[in-house]
Amino acid sequence: MRLREIMAVLIPHLHAVVRELRLTPEEWLQAIQFLTRTGQICSDRRQEFILLSDTLGISMLVDAINNRKIDDVTPSTVLGPFYVNGAPALSMGENIALHGRGEPLFVSGTLSDETGRPLEGAVLDVWQTSEDGFYDTQDDTQPDMNLRGVFRTGADGRFWFRSIVPASYPIPSDGPVGDMLKALNRHPMRPAHIHFILRAIGYDTLTTHIFIDGDTYLDSDAVFGVKDALIKPLMAATSEQQAEHALPQGCKALHVDFRLQPEALAHVAGAPASEQKAGAHA
Ligand SMILES: [Fe+2]
Repeated sequence: MRLREIMAVLIPHLHAVVRELRLTPEEWLQAIQFLTRTGQICSDRRQEFILLSDTLGISMLVDAINNRKIDDVTPSTVLGPFYVNGAPALSMGENIALHGRGEPLFVSGTLSDETGRPLEGAVLDVWQTSEDGFYDTQDDTQPDMNLRGVFRTGADGRFWFRSIVPASYPIPSDGPVGDMLKALNRHPMRPAHIHFILRAIGYDTLTTHIFIDGDTYLDSDAVFGVKDALIKPLMAATSEQQAEHALPQGCKALHVDFRLQPEALAHVAGAPASEQKAGAHA
């Protein structure tokens, strides 16, 4: 039974921590109170335990162990606490920014298999922050499902949609996880990114981000989620893109080609942690 196996490892490690640190009753009570506060601040809109897992690097470690990839496919990264199931299904080219603010962005690319063959009928579930670094679930000035959308590729595997340039943002730092970061002299910032969950029949579901190149926080992401292969440059939209998609003047563009791993290839994937920047500022 897996639970028995987990507890047989967990308990000796916990005892070893207490023994090595010679914890006092007061310190142990502080730990219990910290975990209690972490639970108490959770709601349907806030998941402090995921933040705790993310900021301790455990989410990325679980991801690295469970999402081994062959070299030719797009790496995964953390889901994060702001995913919402049931985002609206949109047509290619639609704008996921409903709130009328921010710097216009055109996002385009392809979904293919590990050899570059386009994947038809693949689903992209996309979400990101507003221009001031908040998700719709954190900000009453944004409509529900703002900056979220689900797209399905056609036969050419291409996708494209409109949005705004995302901002780097602090993870919620007004709770126990924020107190922990402050006490450890760590900042709460994440570099600007767009989240993707990519699904296609016969392929491993890929949960990942695309980060904007040049962001100040790429080397010190509070949740250790950055991988080099996920950093893409923000360009000016080309005149062809502007004409074809009726983009506003000065629109920025982000291009990304995703490659998904066939389910059957998981067992031949290489070492999981080779590309991580985790621990860069711990
Ligand atoms: Fe995020």
